[in-house]
Amino acid sequence: MTEEAMTEDAMAAEREHIPIAPSVLYVGTPVVLVTTVNPDGTTNISPMSSAWALFDRVILGMTSTSQGRENLVRDGGLVMNFPSADLWPKVEALARSTGRDPVPAHKRQIGYEFDAAKFARAGFTPQRAERVRPLRIAECPIQFEAEVVAVHDPGGEWPADRPEGFQIVETRVVRVHVHRGVVIPRTNHIDTARWNPLLYVFRHYFGTGADLGRTFKAEA
Ligand SMILES: Cc1cc2nc3c(=O)[nH]c(=O)nc-3n(C[C@H](O)[C@H](O)[C@H](O)COP(=O)(O)O)c2cc1C
Repeated sequence: MTEEAMTEDAMAAEREHIPIAPSVLYVGTPVVLVTTVNPDGTTNISPMSSAWALFDRVILGMTSTSQGRENLVRDGGLVMNFPSADLWPKVEALARSTGRDPVPAHKRQIGYEFDAAKFARAGFTPQRAERVRPLRIAECPIQFEAEVVAVHDPGGEWPADRPEGFQIVETRVVRVHVHRGVVIPRTNHIDTARWNPLLYVFRHYFGTGADLGRTFKAEA
């Protein structure tokens, strides 16, 4: 290919990407149902998706006014319950609710309501955790019990017109429970042919597609 042709190709390729201003930047992360303990000892469920893992740490982005964030900071214990894709209607049944009473004004305006009984609202079954106080969600095939190790504020300037901020909650996973149906028998490996996480992609729910291949570090 001549240098001239490459330049034309590069110019053509440049026109294929256009600058836009999307309202959210959620390219696709797993949905997590974070369970935490309310001040009265009952368990709250907060659907969220701003979560990622490195080693035994999972980092969560939680908005300031969510009851889940308040519970985490006060109690220090949580369970991250990972729903499979088929559970999306139950997740969406929780979407317009908060365990916070009174409901924060910016949420009330868009139709959120207080709900102290989120297990019943979604039709989920509570399961006792081993190392932390919040209950697990039996229907979720993967559950991480975890402890809060640090809470960080976001850096930089925060736009004054935003209804609320958020905090970055750093957690350490202390116990992992996985449903037998998604474990490769007699191993510590997840059977990725059977585990179909629910993903949140630009505010739509998705499952995963076909297995495209494995990275060189994959153990199963
Ligand atoms: C699929 C989905 C993903 C969400 N992701 C987040 C998130 O990453 N962080 C967050 O703070 N809120 C997230 N939310 C919004 C919370 O669920 C919402 O603030 C809810 O009221 C929290 O409940 P709580 O106030 O009882 O904790 C998400 C909601 C849905 C339905």
